[in-house]
Amino acid sequence: MDLAALEQRAREELDGCTDEAGLRAWYSKYFGRQGEVQQALGRLKDVPPAERPVYGKEVNRIKETLTRDYEAKLAHVKELALTRSLAHDALDVTLPGRPVPRGRLHVATRVMREIRAIFADMGFQVYRSREVEDDLTNFELLNMPPHHPARDMWDTFHTTTPGVILRTHTSPGQIHVMRELCPEPIRVILPGMCYRYEAITQRSEIQFEQVEGLCVGQSVTMADLKGTIVAFARRLFGQGRQVRFRSSYFPFTEPSIEVDIDWPQEDPNADRLTKGTGWLEIMGAGMVHPVVLRNGGYDPDRFSGFAFGMGPQRITMLKYAIDDIRQFWGNDLQFLEQF
Ligand code: PHE
Repeated sequence: MDLAALEQRAREELDGCTDEAGLRAWYSKYFGRQGEVQQALGRLKDVPPAERPVYGKEVNRIKETLTRDYEAKLAHVKELALTRSLAHDALDVTLPGRPVPRGRLHVATRVMREIRAIFADMGFQVYRSREVEDDLTNFELLNMPPHHPARDMWDTFHTTTPGVILRTHTSPGQIHVMRELCPEPIRVILPGMCYRYEAITQRSEIQFEQVEGLCVGQSVTMADLKGTIVAFARRLFGQGRQVRFRSSYFPFTEPSIEVDIDWPQEDPNADRLTKGTGWLEIMGAGMVHPVVLRNGGYDPDRFSGFAFGMGPQRITMLKYAIDDIRQFWGNDLQFLEQF
């Protein structure tokens, strides 16, 4: 067996390998189970005893050097392949990504959340109620029998089903909460959309949100109503604000009030907003009428309550000096992106 020839052939072929696949084929040709170097080792027993030590040493030397060179070359080839792929499929992971246009919450949603948060801090839960109502709950159970003149305060969208209407305010929700929770005490707000059959102008929309509030218990007084409203108004508009209560009329509260806040004189819009009075109305409120308490299942001799209702769109207009209510549902991005 010509070991020198074997070594030379193996080395030449190794030098000719240029990629990983070629190298691995070369390796199994010489070092696999039937590999030529393995076979050369196997022939040790056929060698005359005197020559065996020299022969064995030589085969082992060939085996070691070829293996070392093979491994070095394999590492080198892998390295080359990596460098090449990095250069070709260049991907700079440090490059900033293309900016994705980010959305934002509608200003009405933001103010609504602010209002909810303030009342949540005062222990009011949120109660959701329906937008499609019946005449009974929207009017009658709120102490407005058919033909009651106060119904004229709310121009109504009727459906083709008699008695089924779109709610004109969130107050019918009061009936739903009371009937569900009676005789437990109640402290909830009822936010949601309302509808009125009105001409759409700068100041009135056919669709708008309201936040109703209702508190019912064994010793709820007008002082609780006033305290709650002042705390709310100051958190929403600023601690220094003055709050004014005027007597008013709603069929479902007795006594009824309307609530104003003072408007900073330094605001250039102050005169227009307050019509020169310095005060701006933010909500209607009052003590829940005994008839309404009874309709909700509560005995008015043992229970009392207060309720209020406000329009967050109106409040948002005040807060951000928006002068046209139609902006809210007009989907004008130039308007919406300001908030
Ligand atoms: N529902 C009344 C409105 O829409 C507001 C209100 C609510 C007044 C609760 C008093 C008590 O105008």
